[in-house]
Amino acid sequence: MARILTGIQSSGVPHLGNLLGAIIPAIRLSKDPKNESLFFIADMHSLTSIKDPKILKENTYATAAAWIAFGFNSESNIFYRQSDIPEVTELMWYLNCISPFPMLANAHSFKDKSNKLHNVNTGLFTYPILMAADILLYDANIVPVGKDQKQHLEMTRDIARFFNNIYGDTLIIPEPKIDERIMTIPGTNGQKMSKSYNNFINIFLPDKKLHKQIMSIETDSKGVEESKDPSTCNVFKIYELMATESDVVQMKKNYREGNYGYGHAKQTLFELITSKYSLERIRFNELMENQNIIEDKLLKGAKKARSIAQKVLRRIRTKVGY
Ligand code: TRP
Repeated sequence: MARILTGIQSSGVPHLGNLLGAIIPAIRLSKDPKNESLFFIADMHSLTSIKDPKILKENTYATAAAWIAFGFNSESNIFYRQSDIPEVTELMWYLNCISPFPMLANAHSFKDKSNKLHNVNTGLFTYPILMAADILLYDANIVPVGKDQKQHLEMTRDIARFFNNIYGDTLIIPEPKIDERIMTIPGTNGQKMSKSYNNFINIFLPDKKLHKQIMSIETDSKGVEESKDPSTCNVFKIYELMATESDVVQMKKNYREGNYGYGHAKQTLFELITSKYSLERIRFNELMENQNIIEDKLLKGAKKARSIAQKVLRRIRTKVGY
């Protein structure tokens, strides 16, 4: 049995890009009974950028609610919040003391962030060590991540090797599972859908607001009667990620034949989203109105996660000399 672990940054309500690119595929992976999955909300990593306690909390609940609404089973897996496991920061200290400073100084993600932000805090610098602690604390074998996390995973493996070289075999070297195919989901302006570009679709909004977001998808200015090219249209590109094969064929035909405007295509996309995800939208909103249900699930998960973490940490403390 493989132990699969991954962390999810909680930076707001997950949008359609997060759902199609990360959440739905990860839930599929968690349904394989050969695996034991640990999924957690990386709310301590979020603290490097979010300083409003209310937003920090809301983001955690919204992220958890999206996972649960899309069918992640928090009973048969381990679903928890990073900040509920204090052992992770203790391990982080041990790892800090063996990780070479230049390795962190050269990390792309740190260089990118420190070039962009005017407030460069130390948490941004040591971010990869907290991530290594997240993984090594649970003897994880496989860590599914996006391409952007590749270097962080390499650092985790290096840190585990440094530790094992100094103290003898102690930590499991995790294997990254990087999905190169992970689709880049286009946003309303055709660039990658992202919270920071403000081009996202939030499927959990009430109908009217969701409709407005979909209507804001940018298209060219071809008239209704003209024939259109589906392959260059943002509405079509989003539609084809969710529609059935035969509906995609039909939509292509409509585009090419003419007398089919972008407004029609947007309306069809809106109807597809509201019918395909009707249950998920209801469940998400119910959970957000009953946050105690989410809280209960996370606390149950934390109990399971902590019992693994405490065992592994005991092994590590002995090796270090405590
Ligand atoms: N840094 C990851 C991201 O932004 C989130 C994360 C935190 C993570 N800790 C992790 C991912 C441990 C995998 C394993 O996506």
